[in-house]
Amino acid sequence: METQIGIVGAGPAGLMLGLLLERHGIDSVILETRDRQYVEQRVRAGVLEQNTVDLMHELEVGDRLEREGLEHHGINLRHLGETHYVPMTELTGRSITVYGQQEVVKDLVAARLKGRASLLFEVSDVALHDIDSGRPRISFVHDGSEHELACDFVAGCDGFHGICRSAISPEVLTELEYTYPFAWLGILAEAAPATEELIYAWHEHGFALYSMRSPQVSRLYLQVAADEDLAAWSEDRIWNELELRLGHVNTGPIFEKGITPMRSFVVSPLQHGRLFLCGDAAHIVPPTGAKGLNLAVNDARLLAAALHDRFESGDEARLEAYSRTALRRVWRAQDFSNYMTQLLHNLGGGAFEHGLQVSRLEYIARSESAARSLAENYVGLPAASDF
Ligand code: FAD
Ligand code: DHB
Repeated sequence: METQIGIVGAGPAGLMLGLLLERHGIDSVILETRDRQYVEQRVRAGVLEQNTVDLMHELEVGDRLEREGLEHHGINLRHLGETHYVPMTELTGRSITVYGQQEVVKDLVAARLKGRASLLFEVSDVALHDIDSGRPRISFVHDGSEHELACDFVAGCDGFHGICRSAISPEVLTELEYTYPFAWLGILAEAAPATEELIYAWHEHGFALYSMRSPQVSRLYLQVAADEDLAAWSEDRIWNELELRLGHVNTGPIFEKGITPMRSFVVSPLQHGRLFLCGDAAHIVPPTGAKGLNLAVNDARLLAAALHDRFESGDEARLEAYSRTALRRVWRAQDFSNYMTQLLHNLGGGAFEHGLQVSRLEYIARSESAARSLAENYVGLPAASDF
């Protein structure tokens, strides 16, 4: 088998890259270890920056997003029972849309399967070979047989636990990591959201977030200990804690719950030889800034444009700059996600830390410049701004 771009992983990064390449007339094969149902039902992020929404429309995969996505124009910051509204659209002219990551994945998989481009689910034993050469290869097992895919370039879009990152020698790759001493417990519930806009709440018991997926479904999160046991959280305990931290919540049957660890992680460079890393394979942000999915999509956008130059005119300038360009936005998101995390979580630092948090929250409430800075990071800097 051969293709121009071998893509490892059918998450948002790999699927978006595949679709962008298809629109440029560049051939690719996507390899995914899980089955279709698993990737389409994996519950994760939910906030799409305007850049991501615009790209979905440009690629003509935005119809359902247009119908079902919930456009938001601000967020609420809550502290000690008081709520302050940050009017993002008024401050930036831009907005965000709440639309579950698994819905994005469903739309991208459907678009991929409609064309002739290949997407293989349930592959195993994926390994990269000769990424330093002009003809890298990917070996894998599918339907019980061994295969080899020869490519011009390989895109490692296989998430944090994938194999692509480790194909780059540790002598070349720098890994920077910070693990937070807490996690998020997230739920989906059949309950009408009791708020129009998202609520990010500071509470002495820890952070809480009120989000939603539709007028009938709420998505809520609680800061919990890093080693928290999910079994220790009955439905009653979850709702009581949410009510305490968020003021008022509408309750209903919980149909999904899980615990997500919180870490900041970045590798550099994002390229070695003919391998390029995209999305969670290369970087993780704590979810407080709602950036993980959007960064994955941005990497795909940059890499697809660079590969287009390369195949159309032989110009490798953007391909050579890919790592530098993508990392500029990754670091902006790292800083913003870390800032939001420090602003709103119980970090265990006592009264001094709380004093700083109160001052920062008051500054956002009183200074339009401070509010605008938060808002422009939250909605996402324009795609063309080189961030
Ligand atoms: P992924 O979505 O991880 O996709 C990688 C794909 O590669 C997967 O389908 C995987 O099965 C496949 N794969 C792995 N190994 C191989 C292999 N060897 N061969 C072939 N395929 C392989 N972000 C937020 O902004 N807000 C949130 O609330 C939020 N919650 C999250 C909750 C969890 C539990 C996790 C793990 C992440 C969460 N994120 C959140 C982050 C966000 O979902 C990710 O940033 C986003 O999924 C990144 O997309 P990706 O395509 O880079 O990686
Ligand atoms: C959601 C997730 C986030 O990480 C966030 O900051 C806001 C909303 C969500 O899943 O809806």
